[in-house]
Amino acid sequence: MQWDDALEVGVPSIDEDHRNIVTWVSDLQEMGAYSFPHKTLVYVFDSLVDYVSIHFRREESAMTACSFDGLEPHRKAHEEFEQIIHKVRHQLLENADFIFENETFEFIFDWLLTHISQVDVLMASSVRGSKAAIEAADKFPRAAIKTPASS
Ligand SMILES: [Fe+2]
Ligand SMILES: [Fe+2]
Repeated sequence: MQWDDALEVGVPSIDEDHRNIVTWVSDLQEMGAYSFPHKTLVYVFDSLVDYVSIHFRREESAMTACSFDGLEPHRKAHEEFEQIIHKVRHQLLENADFIFENETFEFIFDWLLTHISQVDVLMASSVRGSKAAIEAADKFPRAAIKTPASS
C-alpha cells in the first residue's frame, strides 16, 4: 500500500505516524521479514510494541479531546491488537526456537494497513483541524519506528 493523502486525519503527529507505519510495512515486506533470524524478530517486535503503544495513546487522546463518539470501539480495536503483538513478543522472548509463522506478519501488516485506511480515517470528521486534538496528540513523543539494518 502506498501512502495516500486521502488517508490524512488532519492531526499532523497522527498523520506522520501513519506515514511511518506504511513505510515500515513496505520496508519489512521488501526485506523479507518472514525469514528474519530470531534476534531480528525480537528487535522488530520490540520496536512495533513501543511504537503502537505511543501511537494508539496519541490517537485516543486526540479523539477524547474532541469527544469523538466512535472512541470506544476504536480503543477496543487498539487493545485487541496490542494483546496480540505483546503475546507474540512474549513468545519470541521466552523461546529462541519459537516457530514464527509467516501468517503472523501477514496478519500484522494487514491489520495495520486496514486499520489506518478503514478505522483511523473515521476520526477525521471529528479531529481534523481541531486545536484541542492537535495539542492532545502532541503530548506524546514523536518516535521513529525502527527497521533492522539490512544485512
Ligand atoms: Fe493509527
Ligand atoms: Fe487507531
